[in-house]
Amino acid sequence: MEKYIPDEKRYEKLPYRYSGASGLQLPGVSLGLWHNFGTNDNFDNMRAMCRTAFDAGITHFDLANNYGPLPGSAEENFGKILREDFAGLRDQLVISTKAGYGMWPGPYGDGGSRKYMLSSLDASLKRMGLDYVDIFYHHRMDKNVPLEESMMALDTAVKSGRALYAGISNYDTETTRKAAAILKELRCPFIINQVRFSMLDRHIEKEGLLDLAQELGFGIITFSPLAQGMLSDKYLHGIPQDSRAAKGGFLKPSQITEEKLEQIRALNEIALSKHMTLAQMALWWVLHKPGITSVLIGASKPEQVAENAAIFACEPFTPDELAAIDAIAPIG
Ligand SMILES: NC(=O)c1ccc[n+]([C@@H]2O[C@H](COP(=O)([O-])OP(=O)(O)OC[C@H]3O[C@@H](n4cnc5c(N)ncnc54)[C@H](OP(=O)(O)O)[C@@H]3O)[C@@H](O)[C@H]2O)c1
Repeated sequence: MEKYIPDEKRYEKLPYRYSGASGLQLPGVSLGLWHNFGTNDNFDNMRAMCRTAFDAGITHFDLANNYGPLPGSAEENFGKILREDFAGLRDQLVISTKAGYGMWPGPYGDGGSRKYMLSSLDASLKRMGLDYVDIFYHHRMDKNVPLEESMMALDTAVKSGRALYAGISNYDTETTRKAAAILKELRCPFIINQVRFSMLDRHIEKEGLLDLAQELGFGIITFSPLAQGMLSDKYLHGIPQDSRAAKGGFLKPSQITEEKLEQIRALNEIALSKHMTLAQMALWWVLHKPGITSVLIGASKPEQVAENAAIFACEPFTPDELAAIDAIAPIG
């Protein structure tokens, strides 16, 4: 591939929003490397997705120790892109990684212990060829480990210079409140909770997490805002061969039920009436919720990245449109 020269107009395309009350701004749309950046995926496609993202103003790339498969391979591939494409651009990028799910065998390769989290972060930095990440997350709650221990591991990550900011992911509202209090006492810059949220999964609204984010001043970045692709027009006429559902993994064909398809069809009608694709409307809807900092998209092609980032010229929702969406996809 030819040498990459970033689009000079990239910072005119997306809004950047402060993550809660912190000083770190994230792009309204961020790119996650959970799928399609693994050992057996096409490297030129990965590189094209990252270039398309950065050209669109997406400065934030989200990883985790276990992304692949094989676990660790997404960080290795992204490290190669950093060296070959984004050399000299480190200060314009926000890179995050996480530890919390199973990474290596034995009692020290999973969960929330200080031993696991800090050795995992060191391994992530090595795979990406970085001195530090911008955000280091604890990837999930671990009820078997004192919350103080996991939070102190995040604090060490920050105070030792391996991370600039601390984040938590998949933490429920009550545990988030406790974690925030510990991190505040440690004077550790806790800036974000990364959680699942979409028109088809509104549990964080119901559980008061968006309200807590505004009360305490942390950001929310939402993963699977397209419900892994279901909130697009791709499954309306069956399961395409190159789709996530067909490849077999975290989205099962059995999840695409007739009931879901009815919701998706009805939401698609609203999107068409707004002259948007359903994917764009789904992202735009998440972003209009108070408390949300950024939507974290995944992609299998550069065209999807471009489509998903091109939402900021869209018309705001009318009260009637929002009521129609609530009727089709209620909080539950
Ligand atoms: N913290 C956590 O526990 C956690 C968990 C999950 C994800 N995440 C993060 O969140 C990121 C995003 O999650 P996700 O991949 O589930 O997000 P998503 O945006 O809901 O789904 C992405 C998938 O939807 C399809 N798609 C995307 N744009 C499309 C479009 N315009 N039209 C049609 N289909 C489209 C693609 O799948 P096809 O292959 O079908 O084309 C793509 O891979 C991950 O990469 C990761 O960084 C974090």
